[in-house]
Amino acid sequence: MIEIIIGTSRPGAYSRKVGTMVFEIYKALGIEVGLIDLKDVPLEAFSGDSINARPLPIQSFADRILKADGVHFVTPEYNGGVPGVLKFFIDLLPFPEAFQNRCFAITSVSAGMWAGIRAAGHLEDVVTYKEGIIFNQKVMIGGVVSLFDEKDNFTGEKEKERLEKQIKGFGEFVKKIRSI
Ligand SMILES: Cc1cc2nc3c(=O)[nH]c(=O)nc-3n(C[C@H](O)[C@H](O)[C@H](O)COP(=O)(O)O)c2cc1C
Repeated sequence: MIEIIIGTSRPGAYSRKVGTMVFEIYKALGIEVGLIDLKDVPLEAFSGDSINARPLPIQSFADRILKADGVHFVTPEYNGGVPGVLKFFIDLLPFPEAFQNRCFAITSVSAGMWAGIRAAGHLEDVVTYKEGIIFNQKVMIGGVVSLFDEKDNFTGEKEKERLEKQIKGFGEFVKKIRSI
């Protein structure tokens, strides 16, 4: 089971559109998948009090991650890193249970030409620090605004191919790692 995490709560985020497409690719490949969208996390969860609260205000989301074999982040880059909501969400997850022996894939999304490379690197550092197992084949999507037509259809054929390859590879990676 793979859980996708959309790394922003911004209404109309392109990352959500890409994440929804990622979800559909998993389903088409017959891989069991769920989608956690940070816009669905209650606002009060992002209070400083949440860090010490038990159960966690994000307990239902944390439980889904604890049950998942792999987590696939689809995140935009905000100010050279991951959005604050994503970092805070990660900060709330139980350590080491949510990270150790769990596989993580990263897709970054950006309007600019650098394709969110800083966010992808930032996230990789955080997950590695938390002892998660990174799937090295990252996909970074730049110029995202021009990859959707006026009916919101994705037109980036090359990017879609890269996503399909990443998702197939991650599915196989997760199977191997979790069966050791
Ligand atoms: C607060 C904020 C900060 C941003 N910082 C960056 C950045 O550092 N690098 C970048 O390439 N794009 C940046 N962007 C633009 C995003 O690449 C753009 O919004 C893109 O559509 C992906 O974000 P979205 O999923 O919110 O749509 C930023 C956008 C916001 C709202």
